[in-house]
Amino acid sequence: MLEIKKIGVLTGGGDCSGLNAVVRAVVLTAINKYGCKVIGFKKGYAGLYSNDSMELTVENCKDILDWGGTILKNSNKDNLFNYAYRDENGKIQHKDVSDVAVQNLKDHGIDALVVIGGDGTLTSARDFARKGVKVIGVPKTIDNDVSFADITFGFTTALGVICESVDRVRTTAFSHDRVQILEVMGRNCGWLALEGGLSGGADVILLPEIPFDVQKVAEVIKERDAKGFKDTVIVVSEGAKPKDGDVVVKKIVEDSADTIRLGGIGDQLASMLEPLLGGKEVRATNIGHTQRGGHTCQYDRSLCTKLGSMAVDALFNGESGKMVTIYNAKPQTVSLEDVLGRGATGETSKGGSNNVDPNGFVVQIARNIGISFGD
Ligand code: F6P
Repeated sequence: MLEIKKIGVLTGGGDCSGLNAVVRAVVLTAINKYGCKVIGFKKGYAGLYSNDSMELTVENCKDILDWGGTILKNSNKDNLFNYAYRDENGKIQHKDVSDVAVQNLKDHGIDALVVIGGDGTLTSARDFARKGVKVIGVPKTIDNDVSFADITFGFTTALGVICESVDRVRTTAFSHDRVQILEVMGRNCGWLALEGGLSGGADVILLPEIPFDVQKVAEVIKERDAKGFKDTVIVVSEGAKPKDGDVVVKKIVEDSADTIRLGGIGDQLASMLEPLLGGKEVRATNIGHTQRGGHTCQYDRSLCTKLGSMAVDALFNGESGKMVTIYNAKPQTVSLEDVLGRGATGETSKGGSNNVDPNGFVVQIARNIGISFGD
């Protein structure tokens, strides 16, 4: 077993339900099983760079199992290998400040690091491992788009929010004989929309993986009207796009590794559909960050506890440059070199992307029960 006296932990990227549950499991395992100390860095890699840290103890991690957000705070802007800063003219420049972080780890006497985050955060974890830092990643994202992972933590909590939101707009759609559109997150991956729509009982689901034809969607609504179903609920992924169009970009965050923030397809779809429906009302709701906030659901609490504890075990087993995961129902570690490659990195993952398969099982089941994908 490796000699480790102190480990560091950080939560990078956007927040996601379950981060605190992972931090708690890391701390409890490190202290109870291995008798080692844990230092938490604040705001992801930003804290590792500025040396903003706190000791994590059994006491200060008590009762955080179900809290959304993270007691360590997040930042999705601090790639220390390509650190964005503004020069004297206010222009964004980049530099490699990773050596500062390595020195900070040495100064703390930290032997190994647990990094909890999405693809950007894990890419940096891989790069720190290449520099000789002992590091294990814990994959995080509500989007469920990580390869080599059955389900990422945060996804199931977000699904609960989506399912409840579909339930809620369904009753309004019914009372007003309306079309209600619910826009959900997921970036360029449709799992949240697909599973959320399926579990909420949506009539139409629009995904990034299956470009839609707005005329087809209008036909579905008219057919439903003709059968006496005057209400239609559409769940649309923020990354969905029409066959002849593009995704709707809500915002560009210049100093973020992945600059594009999607959002607005729900409203756009409503204004495309209304003129095709002879006066029928179409309303859109974007549930946005409600999908990332609030209490962590039971499934995620348990998954996070397993992953956090596995991360510490992996470090003590001498592993590094890997992420912990439950894949094909088996707890295991996978090399970050093999996992990464989507989104901001532009490289190719050996696992491929974990996108929805348009011909796969879940889409097929949805089609079986009459859900339309607008194609
Ligand atoms: O990757 C998680 C996610 O919630 C995406 O589904 C969404 O597109 C994005 O992050 C939103 O990021 P931000 O919190 O910066 O708006």
